[in-house]
Amino acid sequence: MTAPTTPIRTPVLSHETYWTQSVFVAEMRDVFAHTWLFAGLVASFETGPQSLTLAGMSMMIEPVDDGFRAKMGTSVAEVGLCGQFLFVRPISGGPSLAEFLAPYSELLMTISRDLVQADHVARIVAEVNWKALVENTLDDCHAATVHTKTLQPAMDSAWLSRYQPERHGAHSMMGNDLGAADVVFWNRLAARLPLARHHHNSTYKHLFIFPNFYIATFFGAMVMLHRVDPIAPELAALELMTCLPVSRPLTKGERAFHGAVMRDLVAKAEIVVAEDIAVCRLAQLGHHFAVHPGILGTRECRVDDFQQTLRKLIDAR
Ligand SMILES: [Fe+2]
Repeated sequence: MTAPTTPIRTPVLSHETYWTQSVFVAEMRDVFAHTWLFAGLVASFETGPQSLTLAGMSMMIEPVDDGFRAKMGTSVAEVGLCGQFLFVRPISGGPSLAEFLAPYSELLMTISRDLVQADHVARIVAEVNWKALVENTLDDCHAATVHTKTLQPAMDSAWLSRYQPERHGAHSMMGNDLGAADVVFWNRLAARLPLARHHHNSTYKHLFIFPNFYIATFFGAMVMLHRVDPIAPELAALELMTCLPVSRPLTKGERAFHGAVMRDLVAKAEIVVAEDIAVCRLAQLGHHFAVHPGILGTRECRVDDFQQTLRKLIDAR
């Protein structure tokens, strides 16, 4: 086992911040309104005006001569592109999108290179605070504790001793090798379909972009985009876009096979998300009954980074 990256500590955010209306309002006003937010894949906005609501802010995104425009009532939000990912910043001012995403701009461009459109899109609404959905995935031991029979068996068993998260302020990444059975599965799939892989390692990666965007990738082939959308203090949605890009047009037979594979992968992803929601819901209920401050363990430094950043931004306003 490697040495802990941070000591056990008390979380920066108290239990009340997971249900209090005034805190929720401050988070939306002081953080979401001033931060670059992932909106979706570029292709989904290229065909004409699309309405979108992010963290309670309604906007209309439309293609224009020199890119895209996002209208919010009488004001205009900033739009930024990173590869095939489209971001918006509701209120202008602050770092450029590239500066904000650093050091992950290049990686995001690489991941998104072949993402023309999502093969499957789902919106799951849960009675939880939005931070619970984010923090749940940032625990290094997430797969081993929440997805014991689903995601964890896909991982190499030595992952915990071999991997440490990469941390860059608010953003961070964690990954590990896929287990032997999963590597066989993905190699067989690559033999049947012209998968457009953004890397050629047999790994699982989880990249978090503050405040509410995380990406899970498998084998450099399947890309799952997650956007957490806060709705109310104890209500949030998870927008899940699943992509299995290919490097050339598929034959009719390949299309049918790709569709069948996608259905299977999406069905499995639904089970995984249901496991996430169940844990988040229990954590949400637990906050109300807690009489002492919580603790963050030695493998929850990404949660600490997230909370520290959120607190700093709110305190700065
Ligand atoms: Fe999960």
